[in-house]
Amino acid sequence: ASAEKGGYEHFMIKEIHEQPKAIKDTMTSRIMMDVDEVKLDDIKLTKEDLESISKIYIVACGTAYHAGIVGKYVIERLAKIPVEVDVASEFRYRNPLINKNTLMIVVSQSGETADTLAALRLAKEHGARVIAITNVVGSSVAREADDVLYTWAGPEIAVASTKAYVTQLIAMYIIALYLGRLNGNLSIEEFRLIRDEMLKLPEKAEYLLNQKETIQKFAATHYVHKDMFYIGRGLDFAVALEGALKIKEISYIHAEAYAAGELKHGPIALIDKGVPVIALATQEELFEKMLSNIKEVVARGAHVISFAFEGNDDISKVSDAVVYLPKTLSILAPVLSVIPLQLLAYYTAVERGCDVDKPRNLAKSVTVE
Ligand code: G6P
Repeated sequence: ASAEKGGYEHFMIKEIHEQPKAIKDTMTSRIMMDVDEVKLDDIKLTKEDLESISKIYIVACGTAYHAGIVGKYVIERLAKIPVEVDVASEFRYRNPLINKNTLMIVVSQSGETADTLAALRLAKEHGARVIAITNVVGSSVAREADDVLYTWAGPEIAVASTKAYVTQLIAMYIIALYLGRLNGNLSIEEFRLIRDEMLKLPEKAEYLLNQKETIQKFAATHYVHKDMFYIGRGLDFAVALEGALKIKEISYIHAEAYAAGELKHGPIALIDKGVPVIALATQEELFEKMLSNIKEVVARGAHVISFAFEGNDDISKVSDAVVYLPKTLSILAPVLSVIPLQLLAYYTAVERGCDVDKPRNLAKSVTVE
């Protein structure tokens, strides 16, 4: 069993370490150095097709849904098409407004999640065009969608998704760049900037994986807590949701993710001495706002671990611990910032003696409603 795990103690930590390769593989032959376009031979959507699209729905469950939230920010920013994100079990029962001018993007690691598949079928019945992002070749979702963009994460065994999530993010960037270039809303200069930074992500992810000490220490000190709060703004909020899900799934700690600007509207009432707060502050234009939010929780006794890009030293003055991420574009930050959050969940679960790869009550793939 240890051989299968490549010398790692659990599949989850093995898969966390496979992320640099998974990111790279998912970009391969689609985004390339010095090539001024996204190559998507697997997607047949034409410029004319895109002109008729007035709205995009991204529909998924669990971790894939969190990748969808990042997708919304990114597609709206780069392709300027309105995007709505929904969990599949809500989407399918709320009479969504779908017609032939709708583009649906379904995201599913397994390609077999019952609600996601049902949402896809519903969209197709109403004439929508469907692109699937999935990790399993020939899965139901892949077979039934009009177009498929495979993530090349390789088989994911641990119930808690890690490498599939980062490749779903990469797929979202690829689609956003593709759509933005196709409809002319993304300039070639901006395309090149993002492309070049994306190509550096595998190396930066690798570097981050070697910076585990701060995380391990925070986990070793705080694993006893019953509640944790994850806060962030913009894309950091999307990542906060995923970080909180990871810790819930495998360590059974109650964790809530909040858009930091919403703190005052409820959760701040729960901040008391010693409560761990995980603060993401990678979005440049929101950095000062995050600093104020961190100060607000610190003033109430929270123990804060922050995540920010290298060079933002101010954050260490208001945090108990800081993990510095190698610099990249704010828009690409989720690919890096999620890694230490996965590690935090992992080390916390290990400290608590939990069954990391097979958490209670959860299944890798939910094929019944
Ligand atoms: C289950 C898994 C999650 C996963 C979700 C959606 O809940 O435990 O890790 O995110 O299903 O799965 P899918 O295969 O559709 O991405």
